[in-house]
Amino acid sequence: MIKTVKTTPYLDQKMGTAGLRKKTKEALKPNYVENFLQSIFNTIQNLNQKSFLVGGDGRYYNKVIIQKIIKIAIANQVKKLYIGQDGLVSTPAGSHIILKNKLDGGLVLTASHNPGGIDGDFGIKYSTSTGGQCQPHESAAIYEQTKTITEYKIADIPDVDLSELKTYKFENTEIEVIDPYVDYIEMIEGIFDFNKLKELLTSDFRFVFDAMNGVTGPYAQKIFEEILGAPKGSVHNAIPKEDFGGLHPDPNLIYAKHLVDLMYSDNAPDFAAANDGDGDRNMILGNHFFVSPSDCLAIITDNYKLIPAYKNGIYGVAKSAATSMAVKKVADNLKIGYYEVPTGWKYFINLMDSNRITFCGEESFGTGAAHIREKDGIWATLFWLSIVADCKKSVKDIALTHWQKYGRNYYLRNDYEGIPQEIADKLMKDLEDSLPRLTGKTFGDYTVSEAYPFIYNDPVDHTSTKNGLIVHFTDGSRIVYRLSGTGTNGATLRTYIERYVTDKLLENPEEMLHELGKISREISDVTNRTGKRKPDIIT
Ligand code: G1P
Ligand code: ZN
Repeated sequence: MIKTVKTTPYLDQKMGTAGLRKKTKEALKPNYVENFLQSIFNTIQNLNQKSFLVGGDGRYYNKVIIQKIIKIAIANQVKKLYIGQDGLVSTPAGSHIILKNKLDGGLVLTASHNPGGIDGDFGIKYSTSTGGQCQPHESAAIYEQTKTITEYKIADIPDVDLSELKTYKFENTEIEVIDPYVDYIEMIEGIFDFNKLKELLTSDFRFVFDAMNGVTGPYAQKIFEEILGAPKGSVHNAIPKEDFGGLHPDPNLIYAKHLVDLMYSDNAPDFAAANDGDGDRNMILGNHFFVSPSDCLAIITDNYKLIPAYKNGIYGVAKSAATSMAVKKVADNLKIGYYEVPTGWKYFINLMDSNRITFCGEESFGTGAAHIREKDGIWATLFWLSIVADCKKSVKDIALTHWQKYGRNYYLRNDYEGIPQEIADKLMKDLEDSLPRLTGKTFGDYTVSEAYPFIYNDPVDHTSTKNGLIVHFTDGSRIVYRLSGTGTNGATLRTYIERYVTDKLLENPEEMLHELGKISREISDVTNRTGKRKPDIIT
């Protein structure tokens, strides 16, 4: 019943910022996923005592791979798999299920906010018992296995029915199909004041949640419509679809344009939130207003006392280096700990586990807290609704009040996509070499105060390099350069641009950052090297 299959390595299975991510067609290559799964199991001792969660965001190919995971797990004598009904589980709910049940890890099948379908992307996030994605040394160990693998083991059994909540036993492995919603909902109810939220959502307050045909649809319908009483239909694009109904399930100004258009129309609701395919990213919008993710983290932190779970105090806050400095101003004012980490949620985990931080966030539409070890789109939405319910102001007025208190960090991310890898690597190397010569140099109105490669010293156990390059200016403005770790098409150069002001609080960010954008190209020499005169995407 157990087969050993000979295989040859693929050399491209290094995990990036968020697990393994590939074009679906590449992942369909013979033994591709099998190699990766066996490589993970090869790095874990005593599998017969280990239990894992399995599920995903409902994208194309997940159902096929879940059946492979079951069979490979049985063949490797894994003790137990908990599988989300119909193969579904959101990334935040998955983290909670691992922590609550003290599991040894999980495989969440998602390429997050990347499009799905045969022409889209496929991905695997491998989490450990921390409830978060594996740490850099763990992914390095798996990568080593993938480079030398010669065989994998697989059980020869029929596919398992995942539509009913049932437990099966094959050989020594138990397979339990679980409800992927209940535990998460119970946990989130324990954080917020649901009575207050219910009052808001059953009033004439107009609310929209856009699940972008990803996995959060059913979670959001249960939470916002069934429990909190928002009118039926408040959750848009609520049914998980294998190709996300053609949407690119990334909640930002470009890919959620339909929602942005609604929020800037004459008939705009009071509040809208969107989540990505696997439910960890969020975008918050008000009537004719967009909350940038960096501001989102700052405003949430400033309002922690409004939420029952945090009213007695929070530890500290962390942001990725690429995220704007807005939250630092709040942390300084509240006199709480403040940390800056590399890009990738995994870097927050040690800080949470060691009680150094409670909240954290990334500019890439990720906000979250220590209730789990992943970012959490529904949590961020409930937090914002709680702020609105308490101060009875519009989203725009909440942000404006915040900027009047702290100043505003205008912020944009410029992405240059599809660059040949060698050109991108050379650009970063030459830029890094030029940093020492930048200090003191003036570009138009801006003078460089400091420029350095970002080296992160994790306070618990590691140091991490190659996290991007930071250029500070004397007025508090900054430019950060780094290469994406999640792209599936050549290299993407991300340039993060920020300008701090205490007046001119309601200007257009593109105008406020126009000059710095040009300076960022002058410093990186991106146009000469790639032929690109402007970014492919500005968010
Ligand atoms: C991107 C984001 C990063 C986020 C990751 C996973 O990674 O920039 O903040 O953690 O997706 O959602 P990047 O492509 O920049 O490496
Ligand atoms: Zn995601």
